[in-house]
Amino acid sequence: MTFRSVILGTGSALPKQRVSNDDLAQRVDTSDEWIVARTGIRFRHIAGEGETTATLGAQAARHALAAADVQADTIDLIILATATPDQTFPASATKVQALLGIHDCIAFDVAAVCSGFLYALSVADSMIRTGAARRAIVIGAETFSRILDWEDRTTCVLFGDGAGAVVLEGQEGEAGILSTKLHADGRHNELLYVDGGPSTTGTVGHVRMKGSEVFRHAVVNLATVMTEVLDSTGLTPADVDWVVPHQANARILDATARKLGLSADRIVVTVDQHANTSAASVPLALDTAVRDGRIQRGQLLVLEAMGGGFTWGAAAVRY
Ligand code: UT7
Repeated sequence: MTFRSVILGTGSALPKQRVSNDDLAQRVDTSDEWIVARTGIRFRHIAGEGETTATLGAQAARHALAAADVQADTIDLIILATATPDQTFPASATKVQALLGIHDCIAFDVAAVCSGFLYALSVADSMIRTGAARRAIVIGAETFSRILDWEDRTTCVLFGDGAGAVVLEGQEGEAGILSTKLHADGRHNELLYVDGGPSTTGTVGHVRMKGSEVFRHAVVNLATVMTEVLDSTGLTPADVDWVVPHQANARILDATARKLGLSADRIVVTVDQHANTSAASVPLALDTAVRDGRIQRGQLLVLEAMGGGFTWGAAAVRY
């Protein structure tokens, strides 16, 4: 028996407005054919008035609490992964905390862009295993639509808004987070970044990306970190029931699966419906596959993501 952080429940939230590729083609020089062929994306949700990273995050957290059958006031840690906070400060996690009606717990944001949920999950797991917290909500929430350059077809068609959350609890047993591995390499800043910030331009800025170069790094880094996390648990790709990947591009998912010898039917794919929701994409995909019955208790999951920084990471979880 080992003390581990167990996922008690999952939840997610999407903005009301759903935007198709054809809708976007009315706005920028693109087409449904190009977007589907190059990315696998068909739809994305875009936040409207009153929908923010914190409101979406709180909604996802409420659904996760309900699925876990846990009262909000028993939570002692909230970690929110986001690159699009409601305000530069305070942390949007504190806004989520207030929206959930929790008046005293640890609450902070983690910034690792698309890998943010893996970073947040790993930090929460460490805090639970060291006894700093017993029950945690880990959230990935983003409103990337608000930092997109809607004139730049090379980026604006790729992203969407949303949130996903898990409730974790420390328990003795076989289930839970078995291992996490995280990496960063700041030399690649200029391949994927936002051209503004409080300490440089004093503005929020817009997303800039050299997509094909990010693509090459993503396939190599993701295959390597997934192998690393499995090796650390003594498991192999053959033991994996489901890969829950960051949903950036269907071609990245295929190429990574091929590298590990994993069949495509073990990869959870939601990029067609949600596009790239950055830190929200892994918990959104996880909640989708839990709720539609694909992911079952006792199964082995590998969660993985890579994003700006670069940052990348993976987690092996006995669900
Ligand atoms: O979440 C963080 C991690 N992010 C990623 O993992 C993203 C990784 N990168 C990608 O997913 C892909 O590189 C993209 C989907 C961004 C781009 O696909 P690509 O196959 O690498 O295309 P490309 O950038 O090499 O562009 C090919 C062509 C270019 O035209 P020319 O120069 O060949 O004439 C682009 O101008 O496609 C053109 N193009 C478009 N055409 C129609 C770029 N964007 C569009 C567009 N619609 N939206």
